[in-house]
Amino acid sequence: MLLNRRVLVGICGGIASYKAVELVSRLQQAGALVDVIMSERAEEFVRPLAFSTMSHRPVYTDLWEPSGRAAETHIALGEDADVLVVLPATANTLAKLAHGIADNMLTAVALATKAPLVLAPAMHHTMYTHPATQANLAILRERGAFIIEPEVGQLASGEVGIGRLPDSSVLLGAIQVVLGRNGDLAGRRVVVTAGGTQEPIDPVRFVGNRSSGKMGYALATEARDRGADVILISGPVALDAPYGVDVRRVETALQMRDAVFDAVEEADVLVMSGAVADYRPAEVAPQKLKKGGKEAREVDAEGGFALRLARNPDILGELAAASQQSEAVERIPGGNRPRRRLVRIGFAAETSDVLTNARGKLAAKRLDLLIANDVSRSDSGFGSETNKVYIFHADETMEDLPVMPKTGVAAAIWDRVVHLLS
Ligand code: CTP
Repeated sequence: MLLNRRVLVGICGGIASYKAVELVSRLQQAGALVDVIMSERAEEFVRPLAFSTMSHRPVYTDLWEPSGRAAETHIALGEDADVLVVLPATANTLAKLAHGIADNMLTAVALATKAPLVLAPAMHHTMYTHPATQANLAILRERGAFIIEPEVGQLASGEVGIGRLPDSSVLLGAIQVVLGRNGDLAGRRVVVTAGGTQEPIDPVRFVGNRSSGKMGYALATEARDRGADVILISGPVALDAPYGVDVRRVETALQMRDAVFDAVEEADVLVMSGAVADYRPAEVAPQKLKKGGKEAREVDAEGGFALRLARNPDILGELAAASQQSEAVERIPGGNRPRRRLVRIGFAAETSDVLTNARGKLAAKRLDLLIANDVSRSDSGFGSETNKVYIFHADETMEDLPVMPKTGVAAAIWDRVVHLLS
């Protein structure tokens, strides 16, 4: 999404400006063309060389340099930009932006450009909460600026309060949200499930699976970057919540089922990449099971015991049955008006007979697409960064995709979904 996009980064004179160096580096690595503009005060915290080394492009600073070329440059920079990001947005620069003051290169470009404005305020908490700063932010928000809320934490003064510049992952996420606003999933609501479920045995143990959640998180992030409203229903995983995505955490299959049914009410698409446990321990011990303990267990001669498992509901199966029912009602003359149809996508993680099993699941769960992967391969499936998938379509055609990063697989899946939605 960032490839060849023109990102203007305006740096103000705040101590957090050093964090902008990392952001510029990450933008550049993602393929964006990054032009950096620094206010005079910013140069006292970080040298322009730090930014030009990361951006591989010149850094703009002085509006008043004698050749007069900067005057043309600031108009050209503004015209070409896809987005203008200002960070750390100081109280002083926010005040200038709110009132149309253009007394340096950064504020002049901000007036000259039609590109969307992203502001990441960072300052001492007393300055941030001051009514003047809040009023300026309200003006800018009202005018369409996208504000990245500062975080609560330790500030440069040593005090703890609101005013910290968030991590570069958050800043990058916010820039992608703004750049993706008119993407091919704009206006669509999508629900993605990710990670495995954990089915409790007792208060400290569970039955789980190897799902890392990486595929589901990549799907949610890609949908966000294409403009969708995304709900991510996540089992316990070691991944950060993607910025701008509504993450709903669950542990068990029963909780995932309830969260999915609640979320799909208003959704256009459901992608079930979560690894839902088909079984759960039939009885959950209220206290930790002790070795050699005999509570409610039949212990054999060696001290072992059998764990009885109960079936969990099949979430996609239940949705398939519900859609079949509502389609039947809609066929009755004078019956209910058809509701917005939910595009349903399933995943099949297989270790054998991948293609036969996948075809069976596509039909049994009445899916629009089924993404099958062979998790016995080291370059595909649980925990790996790449995936080798086959995409099965409802019309029985099949695509055999090469091994790709999970982000690439996510893009390929959404391409197919966009086609289905149109
Ligand atoms: N799934 C589901 N509810 C379950 C189990 C699975 O909705 N209780 C979904 C998964 O999220 C996935 C698809 O169904 O998108 C296929 O999951 P998989 O476990 O491969 O299929 P099962 O139908 O459980 O078949 P089996 O375990 O026999 O392979």
